[in-house]
Amino acid sequence: MKKYVLVGCGSRGSGAYAMPLIKKYADCAQLCGVYDINRKRAELISKESGVDIPVFDDFDTMLETVKPDKVIVTSKDCTHNEYIVKAMEFGCDVITEKPITTDFDKAQAIIDAKRKTGKDITVTFNLRFSPFCARVKEIVATGVIGDVLSVHFEWMLDTKHGADYFRRWHRERENSGSLLVHKSTHHFDYVNWLLDDEPVAVNAYGTRRFYGHTREERAERCLDCPYKDKCEYPLDITKGEYKKLYLDCESEDGYFRDKCIFSDEINIEDSVSVNVQYKKGAVMSYSLTAHSPYEGYHLVLNGTKGRLEIDKISTELPGYREESKEAIRVHNRRGEVITYNLPARSAEGHGGADGELRDWLFRGVEIRPELQQAAGLRAGLMSIGIGMAANVSMKEERRVWLSEFYKGIEDIR
Ligand SMILES: NC(=O)c1ccc[n+]([C@@H]2O[C@H](COP(=O)([O-])OP(=O)(O)OC[C@H]3O[C@@H](n4cnc5c(N)ncnc54)[C@H](O)[C@@H]3O)[C@@H](O)[C@H]2O)c1
Repeated sequence: MKKYVLVGCGSRGSGAYAMPLIKKYADCAQLCGVYDINRKRAELISKESGVDIPVFDDFDTMLETVKPDKVIVTSKDCTHNEYIVKAMEFGCDVITEKPITTDFDKAQAIIDAKRKTGKDITVTFNLRFSPFCARVKEIVATGVIGDVLSVHFEWMLDTKHGADYFRRWHRERENSGSLLVHKSTHHFDYVNWLLDDEPVAVNAYGTRRFYGHTREERAERCLDCPYKDKCEYPLDITKGEYKKLYLDCESEDGYFRDKCIFSDEINIEDSVSVNVQYKKGAVMSYSLTAHSPYEGYHLVLNGTKGRLEIDKISTELPGYREESKEAIRVHNRRGEVITYNLPARSAEGHGGADGELRDWLFRGVEIRPELQQAAGLRAGLMSIGIGMAANVSMKEERRVWLSEFYKGIEDIR
């Protein structure tokens, strides 16, 4: 039986790790402690678990008291490095949520700790475990499109999901490293994994013209905003999970979950355009739009033998008329179009990804070992590497080489 502790008891920490550990994996994994700078949120896990999980006031004390095998890190992105390094130095393996960290200095501290301690780091790229993405990986691995020469990737967040990043801590670059790190880390890892390749250089542009200070009718937060009846994007946190996790915990840290998306505190982009050069020669053009009328992505891999086109679109915004759509097809060089069957839809989190990820993390069940869904430190570094290099590129208005920051990391896995 492995002993786990969890740091960061918000929505992800509680919903994707703590509760499943207690309710579904109690036969093989024991959650022995939780810590969050907001004690009320940590206490919620203990209360709702029904098994009285110890709540700690301090991370170091939790390590010393529990002596866990593994530490699960699900705190705010910019704090991951601190807990990853401390956990490894204490002798624990680490399971961390993406992004592994938010800037190159913090990444270096994690690399140093890995070298010093030799402990394991798993980065939970759940997209790799989604049956849909696994299908795409399988198709690429058959060689049907040959060697990938170029990638065209467009990711859309709608004004429900996308707007939410501009309400929360994510909206400040210091916390999230921007959407290019916080969000795009999933997308960059997906491509790195599909191509079985690593990025070498990045050039990026970004703007913010939809969210931020684009209107005067705004307030600090939705809760008491005088304009909320006519705003298109109000968030009501007086009910359900929002109330329990955030409104009722405000007394501890003053964190508002419903800040105005038109605030001038926001300093991240809502539209980005990124070019990436890969080691084996492929090039990628990637864009992220955080204010789309629908949600999803279009991904194209152009190969020596054909072109793979992937559409995954969901249209949940009220009033939007088109159907949700999922499709995977290959155009080969004989003029044929091959349409692939899609895996059955799953009700589990993130299209079935979270359930499969947890079975692997906690029970060691690997459904498709040949797909190499496990991601370690190196994969984590490569995906944030694109986002962090894009941040440098936008700031310094130049092409950025990852080797400027990642030096001599051939030994890091
Ligand atoms: N893989 C996925 O699909 C996925 C989905 C959502 C979130 N995430 C990741 O999970 C993590 C948590 O996100 P969330 O949506 O639960 O956010 P959240 O705001 O609900 O929770 C973050 C928690 O971290 C705590 N925290 C902040 N600073 C801390 C510190 N210094 N020490 C300890 N705790 C601290 C907060 O009090 C809060 O409880 C993030 O890294 C995020 O990127 C991943």
